[in-house]
Amino acid sequence: MTKVGIDAVEIWTGKLKLDLPETFAPAKDEDPGKYTKGLGLEASSFPDTYEDIVTMAANAAKRLMDRKGLTPDDIGRIDVATESAFDHSKPVSTYVAGCLDSVYEGDFTHTNKGERKFACVAGTQAIDDTINWILAGRNRGRAGLVIATDTALYARGDPGEATQGAGAVAMLVDEDPAMTALSLDQGFGSKDETDFLKPNQQFPSVDGKRSVQVYLSRMREAWADLESVAGRIEPVDFAYAPFHTPFPGMVRKAAPLAYRRLVRGTSVEDDLADRIGRQPREAKFDTREDYEEAISAYMDDLTELVEYQEWYSGAIEPTLDIARRVGNWYTGSVHLARVSALRHAARSNTEMIGGRLLIASYGSGAQAEIHPETVREGWKDEIEALNIDGQLARRYDISYEEYETIHDVHDYDKDTEVEKFTDPDGEFVFTGWGRMNERQYEYAE
Ligand code: CAA
Repeated sequence: MTKVGIDAVEIWTGKLKLDLPETFAPAKDEDPGKYTKGLGLEASSFPDTYEDIVTMAANAAKRLMDRKGLTPDDIGRIDVATESAFDHSKPVSTYVAGCLDSVYEGDFTHTNKGERKFACVAGTQAIDDTINWILAGRNRGRAGLVIATDTALYARGDPGEATQGAGAVAMLVDEDPAMTALSLDQGFGSKDETDFLKPNQQFPSVDGKRSVQVYLSRMREAWADLESVAGRIEPVDFAYAPFHTPFPGMVRKAAPLAYRRLVRGTSVEDDLADRIGRQPREAKFDTREDYEEAISAYMDDLTELVEYQEWYSGAIEPTLDIARRVGNWYTGSVHLARVSALRHAARSNTEMIGGRLLIASYGSGAQAEIHPETVREGWKDEIEALNIDGQLARRYDISYEEYETIHDVHDYDKDTEVEKFTDPDGEFVFTGWGRMNERQYEYAE
C-alpha cells in the first residue's frame, strides 16, 4: 500500500509577543501562576499591523516551497484550514495562491483550492482530504499543500483572552513522505455542541468550562472508535501523543484519560492495582454519576504515581513546548504539537524512524479525531530545517497598552491606525482594501 503523509512542514508565527505572566497578568490584576502553572502558558503570539491569516499562511508556504525547491506545477491542491476567515464566499486559499503567484514563475491555475472549516480540527481534516485524493490516484503525481492559519483572538475581557495566539503551519502532503506516514485507521467522536462558536461574528462566544468537558468527552469517544478498528493501544506503542493544545493545561487534563485507557486490562493496570485499586468499570455502578465520580477519584490517584509521571514527561510534556510560547493557533495547534514532539526527539538524539505518534485533534462544535502516524526516514532533516526558535526570539515584546492597540487593529469593527512594530523583511504583507472590499497584499523585499 502506498505510504502517504506529511513530507515537509514550515511554521510562521505572528511577529509580536505578549508576555502573559509579566505583562498580561499584572494588567489584569491576576496571579502570574494562573498562566505559568494553571494554563501552562508563557506567551502569546500576535500578528503585527501588516500581518493576517493570509500573510502568515503565504509566508509559511513560500518558505516550504523554497526549501523543497517546488514550483506551482508541483502542487495539485491548496487547502487552507482556518476559523478566522474574513469572507463567506472567496476562500483564503485563493488569496494565498495570489500571493504565491506573484513571486513564482508559473502559476496555480490548475491547482484545486478550497477552505476547510470545523474549528480546530479542520487542519487534520484537510490532510485527510489530500490523502484521499492521492490514494484515489487523482493527484497526477502532484502533492497537496495544507495550510492551517489562524488569528485566535477573543473579545477583550473574555476568559479566553488568556489563551490567544496567531500563526500558520504549512504542510506538504505527498506520497512516500519524508516526515510521517498517516495510518488509515482513525477514530472519531462527534456531537452537535454549543461550546465555542462564531455565528457571523469575529470573536467567539465561548462557554469555557463546558468547552473543556466537551473536549474530554469527544476525545474519549474518538479513542474508543479508534480501538474498535485498530485494536488495543498500549503505552509502548507510541513515543509521543501530540494533542490539540488550546493551552497546555488542557492537555494536562486529557493525559490521565489517555493513560487510563492505554493501561486498562494490561499488566501495567495489574501493577498499579496494589496501590490505587483497579480501574472502575461502568457495569459495576448503578448510575453514570457514581461511575464518573469513581473515575475522577481513580485519575487523581493515577496522576500521583511515578509510572504515570514518567509516561507524561516522556510522551506528553515534550509536545507542549511551542504551544507554551505562542498560545492557541486553533487549526495549527495539533500540528505544532507534532513538531514539538519531533524537535524533542531530534534534540535528545532519539532514534525515531519507524517510531509512532498518536495524533489527537479536536474542534469545538464538536469533533475529535485520533490516528497513528509512523515516523519516516527524513524526519530529522525536516525538523532541523525549521527556523522556529529564531522566529520566536525575534518577536517584538509588546506592552499591555500596545496589546490593546494591536487587538483593536485586528478588530474588524474598529478603524485603528497605528505604526507597525516590526519591519517586514522578505515576506508578504497586507496593504489595504480594494474597490470590492477585498484584502490586498504584496511581497515586501
Ligand atoms: N497558580 C496555579 N494555578 C492557578 C492559579 C495560580 N495562582 N490561578 C488559577 N490557576 C489554575 C486554575 O485552578 C485553573 O486550573 P484547573 O482548570 O486545573 O482548575 C487554571 O489555572 C485556569 O484558571 P481559571 O479556571 O480560573 O481560568 P478562567 O476561568 O479564567 O478560564 C478557560 C480558563 C475556561 C480555559 C478560559 O481560558 C477559556 O475560556 N479559554 C477558551 C476556551 C478553551 O480554550 N477551551 C479549551 C477546550 S475547547 C478547544 O480546545 C477548542 C479551542 O481551541 C478553543
